[in-house]
Amino acid sequence: MNKITIHFEEADHETRVVEGDFKGIHLLDVVEDHGMHLSSNCGAVCACSTCHIYVESGMDSLKELSDNEEDFIDRAINPTLESRLGCQCEILDNDAEITITIPDQSDIIGHEH
Ligand code: FES
Repeated sequence: MNKITIHFEEADHETRVVEGDFKGIHLLDVVEDHGMHLSSNCGAVCACSTCHIYVESGMDSLKELSDNEEDFIDRAINPTLESRLGCQCEILDNDAEITITIPDQSDIIGHEH
């Protein structure tokens, strides 16, 4: 079973933990399927940077960074070496422990919540 810990930069710095069998599922979908919000302006086709997240741990359990993803990460707000795009982070196994931080979504152009 996967354990995904999700920190939010926004508002009260909430942290959520979700568990389940997420192999083959992308982090963006895990977040949204559990009622949390992460922007995805391009519809999850790696053509924007609004689903930008920070992977604090568990990077080895995610599909490798592609050149295209890297290009869009460069256009994200405050990218770091831990930056990924949530829609491109496919979870590769079923016993991963992954910790991510979701940036403040109110900074995202097109943010509706
Ligand atoms: S939703 Fe646009 S790159 Fe992920």
